Amino acid sequence: MNKVRIGLVGAGKIAQVCCAKILEHPSAAVTAVHDVNAQRMEQLRQAHQIPNACATVEAMLARDDVDAVYIAVPNKFHKPLAVKALNAGKHVLLDKPFAMNLAEAQEIARAAREARKILMLGMNQRYCPDSQKIRSIVADGGLGEIYHAKAFWMRREGIPRLGTWFCNRSTAGGGCMLDIGVHVLDLCLFLMDNWSPVSVFGCTYSKFGSRGLGEGGWGLSECENIPFDVDDLTTATVRFANGASVSIDASWAAHMDVHNKNDVLLFGTQAGAGTYPARLFRRDPHREGYSVIEDVNAKIAMKHADRFHNFVNVILGIEEPLVTVEQALVVQKIIDGIYESCRTGKSVDLS
Ligand SMILES: NC(=O)c1ccc[n+]([C@@H]2O[C@H](COP(=O)([O-])OP(=O)(O)OC[C@H]3O[C@@H](n4cnc5c(N)ncnc54)[C@H](O)[C@@H]3O)[C@@H](O)[C@H]2O)c1
Repeated sequence: MNKVRIGLVGAGKIAQVCCAKILEHPSAAVTAVHDVNAQRMEQLRQAHQIPNACATVEAMLARDDVDAVYIAVPNKFHKPLAVKALNAGKHVLLDKPFAMNLAEAQEIARAAREARKILMLGMNQRYCPDSQKIRSIVADGGLGEIYHAKAFWMRREGIPRLGTWFCNRSTAGGGCMLDIGVHVLDLCLFLMDNWSPVSVFGCTYSKFGSRGLGEGGWGLSECENIPFDVDDLTTATVRFANGASVSIDASWAAHMDVHNKNDVLLFGTQAGAGTYPARLFRRDPHREGYSVIEDVNAKIAMKHADRFHNFVNVILGIEEPLVTVEQALVVQKIIDGIYESCRTGKSVDLS
């Protein structure tokens, strides 16, 4: 295969950002684009001189010059479009979250297995050089036993445009937890390399969007006055089989001191770490007292630091996926558990 030829399914806000990233790979070409919004599809086609605009997804999937697709559409369409693409024999990079819920994610995973095609998820935070540095320090045992972590992505006024698909359970599956909490939860499990959650207790709140407040402006989809019925702040504690715990907080809107805070903090028996930026906290045997090390030096496995590079390289057979389907299913399972815990008021067994 000379070039991996990619079709874009969805020409919205993130596809517009990511098309250029795909084209940075010397062995990738974008050969087709499809969006239900013809005007947006044509704009993206023209902006990147994409040779084909396809009026239907079926027309794109029937093309011989499309080896793989990048799917970036509202969450409601992740499962039907990913399954369709896999059944048509295309490799799939599906942007996050995996799906509306675990059952849908499992269906997509099954379709990939049966079609024997590559399925990857758009967990871009894992690729950041700072994340990769901390991952390699953890893998080398630099933190000792990690027994607790705090993962958070809190925005003060960051609800995607009110009235769009992001704001309703029927089209998004969930709110801030599924939209941005998923990033730091995934990153936290990746850094800890702990994929065995046994229980979760969570609380979700919807205090701003439901009052028409807290809008941030992301998203291009048409506003259709869809009512806001998802979480704009979520907090949860996850317990793991080895006794470790993770506390996770996500908000699209909350009264707080700064516009945005996100990080994953790891607490180990030998040292602690923060991720954004990479830093280490430990008693340094070579220095007096306690050290906060900010110029963290560690190897980075994927220097390109990019999910599209990794996807293309996996198709070319020269790299392993940084994000596996099995890991992504664990993350989706925890998120399902958080929402169930909130509904029932009880801890949810994930074992
Ligand atoms: N990895 C990340 O950091 C990241 C960032 C932003 C968004 N995303 C994810 O990408 C996806 C898209 O988000 P966005 O911000 O681009 O949303 P958006 O609303 O800006 O764009 C969505 C696009 O999908 C199109 N669309 C809707 N239904 C479709 C269908 N059935 N078939 C084809 N096209 C359809 C819309 O017309 C629109 O152009 C979401 O799942 C979101 O969670 C990931």
